[in-house]
Parts: sequence; structure tokens; C-alpha cells
Amino acid sequence: MDKANELAWWQQTIAYEVYPKSFLDTVGQGTGTIAGITQKLDYLQKLGVGALWITPCYKSPMVDNGYDVQDYYAIDPSFGTMDDMDELIARGREHGIRVVMDLVFNHTSDQCTWFQASKESRDSEYADWYVWRDAKPDGSAPTNWRSIFGGSAWEWCEERGQYYLHTFAKQQPDLNWECDEVRKALFDIANYWADKGVGGFRIDAITYIKKPPVFEDGPADGEDGLYPVHAATANTPGILDFLHEFKAAVRDGRDIFMVGEANGVAADELDKWVGTDGVFDMLFEFSHTHVPMGEAEIWCRPVTWELADLKRALVASQRATATNGWYPAFFENHDQPRSTVNFFRCEGPLADKAKVLGAVLLTTRGTPFLYQGEELGFGNATWKSIDEFDDVQTRAQYDFAKGEGLSDAEALAACVRFSRDNARTPLQWDASENAGFSTAMPWLPVHDDYATCNVAAQEADPGSPLVWYRTLASLRAARPELIAGDWQELLSDDENVFAFERTLEDARTVTLTNFSDKNVEYDESLVAGLSVLAGSQGDATPGALRPLEAVIFG
Ligand code: NOJ
Repeated sequence: MDKANELAWWQQTIAYEVYPKSFLDTVGQGTGTIAGITQKLDYLQKLGVGALWITPCYKSPMVDNGYDVQDYYAIDPSFGTMDDMDELIARGREHGIRVVMDLVFNHTSDQCTWFQASKESRDSEYADWYVWRDAKPDGSAPTNWRSIFGGSAWEWCEERGQYYLHTFAKQQPDLNWECDEVRKALFDIANYWADKGVGGFRIDAITYIKKPPVFEDGPADGEDGLYPVHAATANTPGILDFLHEFKAAVRDGRDIFMVGEANGVAADELDKWVGTDGVFDMLFEFSHTHVPMGEAEIWCRPVTWELADLKRALVASQRATATNGWYPAFFENHDQPRSTVNFFRCEGPLADKAKVLGAVLLTTRGTPFLYQGEELGFGNATWKSIDEFDDVQTRAQYDFAKGEGLSDAEALAACVRFSRDNARTPLQWDASENAGFSTAMPWLPVHDDYATCNVAAQEADPGSPLVWYRTLASLRAARPELIAGDWQELLSDDENVFAFERTLEDARTVTLTNFSDKNVEYDESLVAGLSVLAGSQGDATPGALRPLEAVIFG
């Protein structure tokens, strides 16, 4: 048995994230459906996908597009029915694709029956299920924490005469994990879905579940006088005890994986979270996405960065998971602007940029997580006014920017650059009306470029990003060192090139990616004895890279 086959199925495969609202609408309503995902399983299989993470599709008022769950045991009617979901899970397996559910366990919707009962009275059976606190003596909020979406993280509740904590929107009250019944209810939900045969879970916002023992004001970091809730509560000591309990109740004994979304966990803490002594199989940490956006993720506060910063972050994550745990490699998800804009400082064709990132993603060590549209080289969308955005966070970031004294145009520019809606426009399937996504007016506009940038056009173009991604997926499947091999950075001092090698026994591949718009030369001896396996711009010359070119030698 070769080394790659000794790894778990989820380490050998490629994962793909679907944002169901924007994937494919099969009923003509302007928003996507689960049946739409089932319809495209062949498409996903051709990309080498074996794990399909679907962002929340449970019953929800959709204030945060499903991340405000009303009922974890029901599918939202806008997406279809539980039968549709069962069908997707079953058909997926026939395609070698296992569905991965998104567990939103830090908070629920304020419409969830648990919260409705909790807010009714302090004597309710659910009284302790959420994080309730009395007002300060002057009636103001218990602390000056700012929610991640902006504004106070506390909301007054008249019925209870108390405030409740919401790390995100006020319609997303935080659950109280200290309450035994809460943890049991959440583990039951996870087991219900695991019993349905899903392949794993992506666990939302998990670093916020443990609150500090004492709630205190922090130093204001903005004109609003507030202190980020992230700084007050993320990764609070004791969190891992909860998560070990979670793992024992859900993960142990099953052939599934759990990947946590862990903003606030640094690369050097990863060994406590993943691997032999850890609680998850993989952890999305965000050190590389913080490079272009800044750690505080305040969109209107510009950061300057260089490729060296991005390389440092990527290398640190590789090192941290080299001997323990496993890395979920990603450049995009539904919360990030498009990677073709985010990770380049130079101008140049989006298709070339997408191929550069694809080369890194699909040949690095770890499970690659693609996000819908990334394989087509999507760019950010075109936005002309704040009213065009749907996203709750974008509107909050706009208000925050205005509060900081920015003009309308400056606040808009920050949202245009960083809005999560950039990643949420409909997937473009063909050149027909609404890009083949829906026969009705889509909930967010399709890109201006849909007539040329779409799946059908790219399938017919051997030089397209889609064909490149498919080529890389085949290469990855055919070369065990790309899955199981060691990872070592090359050309670490190069300002323009990110390069690394993968080695396993006698096999070696080298990935060279030029993130700049310059011609770059490197020492040919680096690839001595190897030949070109794939070049993003056709024939490649050892020792030289064209602007925005990626070459894989082996
Ligand atoms: C992280 C999710 O990825 C994001 O989309 C959501 O808004 C927050 N968690 C709150 O659930």
C-alpha cells in the first residue's frame, strides 16, 4: 500500500464549498436549491471533489444567510426538503462525494424555539441556554464589547429585563455552553446528521463558545467607544475541555472529519487543536487572509503588505501541521473577497491569477478547499452603491466606516474591496440569461463578465482556469507525493515567487508560482532532472517564469 493510501479519505481528496443560495436554482425563484447541487455532482466529480461542504441550509430567517439557525432538524423551504437533502447525500456517495454539513453552534437564530423560551422568563426551562447579564447600574450594556458585525454585542430584552450577548448580529444570540443541556442538545444534532451518513462537519465560529469568567470593559479601539468582542472572548482558556467532550460524543468511532473555523487560534497553538492530542481533524486558521485584510478585519483601515508576508503565513501553517495534524488549504470561502483580487498586488488577467493560486492550492500539503467560482477565476463584483449589498456584515462595516469619519465614497470603496458579497454572486454556468443560474432575477446580480466567464465557455477552452484546475486535480490524484509527501519551501527570499517542493521516497515535485507582473529568473538547478508536468501558460522554460505564471515540475 502506498503512503497516500495510508491516509484517511478526507486527507486524500479535494473539498469544495458550496454556497447553496448562489449555486444553482432549479425552481425559478432567484435563489439556489439543494436539487441544484445534486444536478451538478458530475461537474464536481470532474474536479476531483470528494467532500462537499454546504453552508447552512437549515430552517432560518436568513438574516445571515443561514448562519442564524431556527431549526437544526429541518431544511429551509427556500432550499427544498429533507428528502432533497437525503437524495443529495445518497447520490453524492454514488459519485464518491460525501456531504459535509456546517454546524453553527456558537449561536442560534433569535427565532429558534430555545431562544424564544429563554427570553420569556428567568424561570423557563431554557433560561440558562443563552448568555444573559444584567445592565450596568446606569442601565447601559454589561460591557463595551463590539459585535463582529459592528455595534454593541449586547441587546436589551424587555421580557427578561436583561441583556443577551450576540457575538455576531443581534438576531444571532450566543448559546451558553456552560449549560449541560445546551451541549447535549448540540451533540444530539451533530449525531443526527452523522447518522444520515454525512462525511463530516465544518464547525462555525467555534473559538467563541467559551466566555471568560468575568465580563469586563476593554479599551476602546474606535470612535464608537467599543472594544472588539473577539479580543474579549476568542479562544478563552477552558474551550478545549468543551471540544474534547464534543469530539468524544460525535467524532470518535466514525469515519468522518471535523474542521473547525478558528479565527483567533495562531499557527503555534495548532498542536492543541488538531492531531493526536487535538479536538479537530483540521482547523481553518486565518493568518494568510489577515495579510491583505489586517488582523482586526476592519475594512476601512488599509493595510500594506508584500508577498513575503503571505509566504511567511503560509509557511508557518505548513510547519505547524508538518508532523501533527492536517492543514485545510484555502484561499477563498463565502466570507472573503475573491482571491484573484485579494492576494495580488499587481495588475494582470484574473485567469492567470486564478491559475497561480490553483497551483499552490492543489499541490500543497493538506486538503485543498475550493470555493465555488474560484475554479473559474472569478473576480470581485461591480458595486455602485451600498444599497446593492445584501450582506449584514457589509452594511455594518459601512456604518462603522462612516462613524470613523470616512466619506460615503470612502466607506463604499472599502466595502467594494472587501465585502463578502463579492464571493456570493451566482455561479455562472453558461452565457444564457442570468448565467444559467436561474430563470428568475437572481438575489444578487451576476457578474458583468458572465457571457465569457462561465463553466460552458471554460470547458471548451483548454487554456481556461477550469481546465487548469481539472488538470491539477488529476495530477494530484496520480502523484502520491502531492498528497502524502513532505513539504519544503524553496526560494524563500524571492520577492515575487512562492515555491515549494513535495517529496516522498524517490518522488519529487516542485511548484513555482510567480505572483508578480515581472519576468523572473531562478536557478535552473532547482529543477534539475525534472520535467514540466504542467504550465499555466503553456510551454514552460526551466529557470524562467513569465508574469503570473505557475509551473509544476516532477
Ligand atoms: C462564520 C461564517 O462563515 C459567517 O458567514 C457567519 O456570518 C459567521 N460565522 C456567523 O455565523
